[in-house]
Amino acid sequence: MNFIVTIDGPSSSGKSTLAKKLAKKLSFAHIDSGSIYRAVTLYALQNNLLLNGKFLINKLISSLSTSHISLKENKNGIFKMHINDLDVEDKIRGSKVSNHVSEIAKFQKIREFVLKIQRDISKDKSIVMDGRDIGSFVFPNADVKFYIDSSIETRSMRRYHQLKQSEKKLSIDDVRYDLLSRDQIDKTRKNSPLIIPKNSLFINNDDRSIGDVLNQMLDHTKSIINKKMH
Ligand code: DC
Repeated sequence: MNFIVTIDGPSSSGKSTLAKKLAKKLSFAHIDSGSIYRAVTLYALQNNLLLNGKFLINKLISSLSTSHISLKENKNGIFKMHINDLDVEDKIRGSKVSNHVSEIAKFQKIREFVLKIQRDISKDKSIVMDGRDIGSFVFPNADVKFYIDSSIETRSMRRYHQLKQSEKKLSIDDVRYDLLSRDQIDKTRKNSPLIIPKNSLFINNDDRSIGDVLNQMLDHTKSIINKKMH
């Protein structure tokens, strides 16, 4: 029996870290759906499809079918984003991709491309998938759903500490501005915006340790799965 666990929430709410750990505890595959949108954005940048601050969206959409953007499982069972067989996990995490990804994720055709990857990968296995529209749109009938949130102050500090090693000039104000503008785009876009999915467990993790939140998520998931198995 395969199960689907969804985790939605805004940028830097801690959802990917929690998704990864929850998947490990449950021996499910972890899929970070933001990484697929990030790889599409990197592909557009690498192919000079950003001109004067605007994406050549029609060109991008028509080239996606031959783009070889895929998720590949490594020998440790971890799924990593690849473009043309090259692991692009490091490249998709930088500010350049972050600054443009919400713009790319607004387009319906891009979302359809990503949706196919998301549904294909979950066909034959139990998964924990995190993103913005997973419990509401991608898997509305998922077995277990979470919505993870934290304040803009907490999220900015987390993201700043993640990035400051590689991007020395970055200020906390830049990070805060980027997160707020991404929240705005993600929550107000027409196509599957970020919402709290029906039947999801809402968790604010501002003043809580990762271990504490993880235990709550694990207990919640196990109790639902156990009921379904018996
Ligand atoms: O989780 P993240 O910051 O890596 O996501 C990057 C962007 O991808 C995010 O700003 C919006 C988009 N995204 C989305 O629209 N739907 C998802 N399910 C996941 C991410």
